[in-house]
Amino acid sequence: MGNLRIPLFLFFFHIFSLLFALSSARFSPPDNHLIACGSASSSTLDDRRVFVPDSAAIVCSSGSKISVSAPPDASPASSPLFRTARVFTRPSSYEFQIKQKGTHIIRLHFYPFSSRDFNLSSALFHVSASGFVLLTDFGTSFPQLKEYLVRVDAEKLLISFAPARRSSFAFVNAIEVISAPEDLIGDTARLVNPDRIEKFDGLSRQAMETLYRLNIGGPKVTPFNDTLWRTWVPDAGFKNSDSVSKTVAFSGRIVYREGGASREVAPDNVYNTARVMDGAKVSDSNSNMTWFFAVSSGYKYLIRMHFCDIASRALNELYFNVYVNGYLAYEDFDLSSAIYFLASPYYVDFVAGVDSSEQLLSVSIVPSKHSSHLRINGLLNGLEIMKMNNTLGSLDGGSPIILVLESPARRGFGEFLRSVVCGLAFMSLLVIGFMLLLRWRAETKNTGTWLPLPTDVSGGKLADGNPVVSGKLVYS
Ligand SMILES: *[C@@H]1O[C@H](CO)[C@@H](O)[C@H](O)[C@H]1NC(C)=O
Ligand SMILES: *[C@@H]1O[C@H](CO)[C@@H](O)[C@H](O)[C@H]1NC(C)=O
Ligand SMILES: *[C@@H]1O[C@H](CO)[C@@H](O)[C@H](O)[C@H]1NC(C)=O
Ligand SMILES: *[C@@H]1O[C@H](CO)[C@@H](O)[C@H](O)[C@H]1NC(C)=O
Repeated sequence: MGNLRIPLFLFFFHIFSLLFALSSARFSPPDNHLIACGSASSSTLDDRRVFVPDSAAIVCSSGSKISVSAPPDASPASSPLFRTARVFTRPSSYEFQIKQKGTHIIRLHFYPFSSRDFNLSSALFHVSASGFVLLTDFGTSFPQLKEYLVRVDAEKLLISFAPARRSSFAFVNAIEVISAPEDLIGDTARLVNPDRIEKFDGLSRQAMETLYRLNIGGPKVTPFNDTLWRTWVPDAGFKNSDSVSKTVAFSGRIVYREGGASREVAPDNVYNTARVMDGAKVSDSNSNMTWFFAVSSGYKYLIRMHFCDIASRALNELYFNVYVNGYLAYEDFDLSSAIYFLASPYYVDFVAGVDSSEQLLSVSIVPSKHSSHLRINGLLNGLEIMKMNNTLGSLDGGSPIILVLESPARRGFGEFLRSVVCGLAFMSLLVIGFMLLLRWRAETKNTGTWLPLPTDVSGGKLADGNPVVSGKLVYS
C-alpha cells in the first residue's frame, strides 16, 4: 500500500500539469499564413514562427513579380525577413485561402534596402485588402511593421499592391494573415461624445489599423511572449509628467475569467504590470495620469484600456474616472463590480472621433469622488489605439482610389486605363456626331431626310464592374 501512494500521487501530478499545459496552450488560428516575400527558402523568427516562400500565393496582372535580396554588406535588421522582398512594378495581388470567415490580423513587413536594381526606400505605392484601402502613396526609408484587423467574409482574401505612379513600384518583405480569436473584437463600445456617452455598434465590421500598443508601467513585450505575436511598448514616451503615479509589478498568477479579457486579448506580461495613482500623493482634483498620441484627424479611433487590479489589497477599494480627449468617458469606474476578483483581467473599449482641428488623442485617469487618499486612485495596465476606416472604406486618405485593384488578374490598370480612354473617345465621338447631326439638320431642314445614329455603343462602357474611381487614379 505504502509503495502505491507515490506513483498515484505522481500520476495525478502529471494529469494536473498536463491539464494546466493544455489550458495555457498557445492559440492555434485556423488561418495562419506566414509568407516571406521574394524568398526561395523558409525563414524562422525569434518567436519560432516559420515564414514560407511566397511564390504560391501571388496573382500577377502580367509577369511583374520580381524578387530582390539585400546586398551582403547591408546592415542586418533584427528580423531574418529583412533579407528579401518582392517588388511589383505593376498592380499585383496576393491571394490567401480563408478557412474561417471573420476578423483576421494582417501584418505587412517593410524593411527597405537597396539592391542592384531597386532602392526600396524610393518605392511609392497603394495597398488594399478585402475592399478596404490600407495605404495610399506609401513609402518608407526605415523598417515598418503595419498591422490591421480586417473582417473577411469570403473564401479568399486578396491583398493588392499598386505603384502610385507609372514610374514607381511597390514592395513588401513579409505578410502575415492570421485568424483573430473570436473574442478579440466585440461588437459594441462606448462612443465618447463631448456631451454624452452613446453605444457604438458594429465594431467588428470596421477595418482597423493598430497605431499604438502600450504595456503601461511595464517593459516591452515581444511577439515571443505574446499570445498573438504582438509587440507592446513601454508607456514612458507617451505620458505626461505627473508626481502622483508609480509603477507596480505582480508576481502572482493572473486569473482569466469568464466575462473578462482572455489571454489572447492581452498576455500575462501586460496584466502583471501597471501604473497606479498613489492616493497619498493626490493633492487636488486636477491630479491625473494622461497619455498623448499623435493621430490624424477625420477618423474615429478605438481606444482599448486593459485593467487588472494587481495593486489593491481588497475589492471595492478602487474607483476612478476615465477621460478621452478631455471628455468624460467613464464615471466612477469600479473594476471590482466589473470582474469581482483581484488580479483578473478586464478591458473597456471606447470609440472617439478626432476632428479636423486636433492631431492628438489623449486618455486620462482621474480620481473619482469615491477615491480615498488611503488607497490607490487609478490604475491602467495596457492601452491600444486603433484607427478605424472612414466612410469611404479607407484607413489612409479620402479617395476610394484602388478599389479597382481587387480583381487584378482579370482587370489590370492597363485595361482600366484603356477603358477610360475608350470611354472618353466614345464620348467625344458622340458629341462630335451630335454636333454634326445638328448642323446637318440645320443645313437640310427642308429636305426631310434622316441620318441614322451610330449603333456601336459597346466600346464605351467605363470599366464595367469597377466601383467609383476618382481622378487621382490616373498615373502621371
Ligand atoms: C535610396 O533612396 C533613399 C531615399 O530616396 C536615399 O536616401 C538613399 O541614399 C538611397 N540609397 C542608395 C544606396 O542609393
Ligand atoms: C519573455 O518574458 C520573460 C519574462 O516574463 C523575459 O524574461 C524574457 O526575456 C522574455 N523573452 C523575450 C524573447 O522577450
Ligand atoms: C490633467 O492635469 C492637467 C494639469 O496637471 C490639467 O490641465 C488637465 O485638465 C487634467 N486633465 C483632466 C482630464 O483632468
Ligand atoms: C468602415 O467601413 C464599413 C464597411 O464598408 C462601414 O460600414 C463603416 O461605416 C465604415 N466606418 C466608418 C467609421 O465610417
